[in-house]
Amino acid sequence: METLISKIQELKLKKNAVILAHYYQTGNIQDIADHIGDSLQLSQQAADTKADIIVFAGVHFMAETAKMLSPDKKVLIPDLEAGCSLADSIKAEDFAEFKKKYPNHLVVSYINTTAEIKAMTDICCTSSNAIEIVQSIPADQPIIFTPDKNLGDYINRTTGRNMVIWNGACHVHEQFSLQRILEIKKAHPEAKIIAHPECQKPILIVSDFIGSTAALLKFTQKDNTKEYIVATESGILHQMKKANPSKVFIPAPPVDSTCGCNDCQFMKLITLEKIYKSLVDEQFEINLSDKIIQKAVIPIQRMLEVSRKAGLI
Ligand code: 13P
Ligand code: SF4
Repeated sequence: METLISKIQELKLKKNAVILAHYYQTGNIQDIADHIGDSLQLSQQAADTKADIIVFAGVHFMAETAKMLSPDKKVLIPDLEAGCSLADSIKAEDFAEFKKKYPNHLVVSYINTTAEIKAMTDICCTSSNAIEIVQSIPADQPIIFTPDKNLGDYINRTTGRNMVIWNGACHVHEQFSLQRILEIKKAHPEAKIIAHPECQKPILIVSDFIGSTAALLKFTQKDNTKEYIVATESGILHQMKKANPSKVFIPAPPVDSTCGCNDCQFMKLITLEKIYKSLVDEQFEINLSDKIIQKAVIPIQRMLEVSRKAGLI
């Protein structure tokens, strides 16, 4: 393991490469990354980096976003199969038909979408700026929100909007069991329930705090509770435990206790070995046409602009 890590470090220096890792990556990948973050933080890092090569330890839509923000850089994803069930829940041709039904609506898309969907979007958001993005749009402007129905519902409830919502969801965040969470809460009455907004409404309603992965981590650092039930992908627990060694973090249980579905199977496809191979062979490169980049980068840049103005980045 040590030799693999030093080989990765050597290659990174030699090739002026940077490794960006999402909080859902395994702990050993987070520990060797140059930057760890949620989707918003990583898109900002991708836009700002001086490196020639970005190795994206995350999923495909994140690497695509990095490529759009840094089109002159080589962006690599160590496994091309690292997709996203949520991004896959909306196809460009279906969305084109859907849009026709709402000609006066503006489109807000979660960043968990393909470049094609972004090219049909007015402004993107992530889970850490979704409320601010929607609030930046005039109250009388109708909105279509894609693709996550749980995040969309949460935004509607929080802002009082009535966005039309695409019927997509993430297979990891949809499987938490309210009943089993409440059983844990009974056994640990002091524990706070903290959840990602991609979770279903009943989970969000019983949660003490709702936020993106970065916001959940920050909450555990500022808050003085000692125990947390964490309703999101298990990778974030690595940083939570590192930042709060004396606190206890209990992963929220899924409906099926044998499925191991607290892990995003796509995120967990990335391994240290694949990162090394990716650096050696400079594979797998993200290639997008100039035409798609020119269109799809606009809603991402608008999102970054609103986030800057709101002091979120
Ligand atoms: P974040 O915005 O917290 O990075 O969420 C990304 C994601 O894929 C959640 O499933
Ligand atoms: Fe996509 Fe869900 Fe995995 Fe996030 S956790 S990358 S939304 S499949």
